Amino acid sequence: MAEASFTPRVFSGIQPSGGLTLGNYLGAMKRFVEMQDRGEFETIYCMVDLHAITVWQDPEKLRRATRELCAGFIAAGIDPERSILFNQSQVPEHAQLGWIFNCVARMGWMQRMTQFKDKAGKNAQNASLGLFAYPALMAADILAYHATHVPVGEDQKQHLELTRDIAIKFNNDFGVDFFPVTEPVIEGAATRVMSLRDGSKKMSKSDPSDMSRINMTDDADAIAQKIRKARTDPEALPSEAKGLEDRAEARNLVNIYAALADQSVDQVLADVGGKQFSEFKPMLSDLAVAKLSPISGEMARLMEDQTEIDRILGRGAERAQEIAAPILEKTYDIVGMVRSR
Ligand code: TYM
Repeated sequence: MAEASFTPRVFSGIQPSGGLTLGNYLGAMKRFVEMQDRGEFETIYCMVDLHAITVWQDPEKLRRATRELCAGFIAAGIDPERSILFNQSQVPEHAQLGWIFNCVARMGWMQRMTQFKDKAGKNAQNASLGLFAYPALMAADILAYHATHVPVGEDQKQHLELTRDIAIKFNNDFGVDFFPVTEPVIEGAATRVMSLRDGSKKMSKSDPSDMSRINMTDDADAIAQKIRKARTDPEALPSEAKGLEDRAEARNLVNIYAALADQSVDQVLADVGGKQFSEFKPMLSDLAVAKLSPISGEMARLMEDQTEIDRILGRGAERAQEIAAPILEKTYDIVGMVRSR
């Protein structure tokens, strides 16, 4: 289908389950800001609270995490005027289109999702039905806006392929050219930020060890301590990216540095090649603190005015619904639902 027939529109989401990590910031949020600032797209960013409850969430913590995530978006540079910023449950079209996509997606497709297998763990029979259907709701998030581009970290790639499959199957089943086949945007040095304790594992808010991740709310001392204790190898840093191939932990720290400094890995290595970690780690800490503390400070300031945060979310939801409602209406019409009021 010719993508040109769709308005260039970016959609992406983050779960308000626990705090934001450096992985979320570098892999997603920082790139959301870049796409907003390029001015080539309409940009829509969502706190996906309906996705969060696919695993147990304490209600008060969920409410707080949703507001804190909103503060995080704004502190990182999302302008709620230029972008649409809202929480998913305030726009019922997500759940409504999600149902239609539950009926388009096949069991076999869902069973192949590695994230479901990881999250459900050994006891998959006890996982919620929502966790299984998660990617169909994610497809609805994106396609309810006819979004053409979706910036995400590497771990969401399979879900975005499923979104494409759902759009294609819907279009084929009903003989229409209605949903766009969305482009994943997985770019930059930090599409997969790894744990500071184990270079083979993704940095994640659900890792039991707090030392494995940098949280966006960590203070300067905590950031410095976590980087000082980050696992590395005894070699000096190489001068070219090729020298990082079998060195997962070293590669991770260099990728983080490059993403924070807005440089390529080669540029960073041209400067730091030959240095020991004892010299590189303090450079990385200083850079991380310089880039992250203004964001955490601003988040704390914004969190003092919850009424304002709720106002922003409410206004964002209204604007989002203006786009999603007619797309859902048209979808119901294509599917054959009687609409008489
Ligand atoms: P979530 O909440 O797990 O993560 C939000 C975003 O952060 C990225 N990310 C990372 N990037 C690099 N390194 C890491 N260690 C790292 N950890 C997380 C994720 O790739 C993601 O881009 N299913 C999604 C939320 C979602 C969504 C959507 C995204 C729901 N609907 C529609 C895009 C479009 C999720 O769980 O992200």
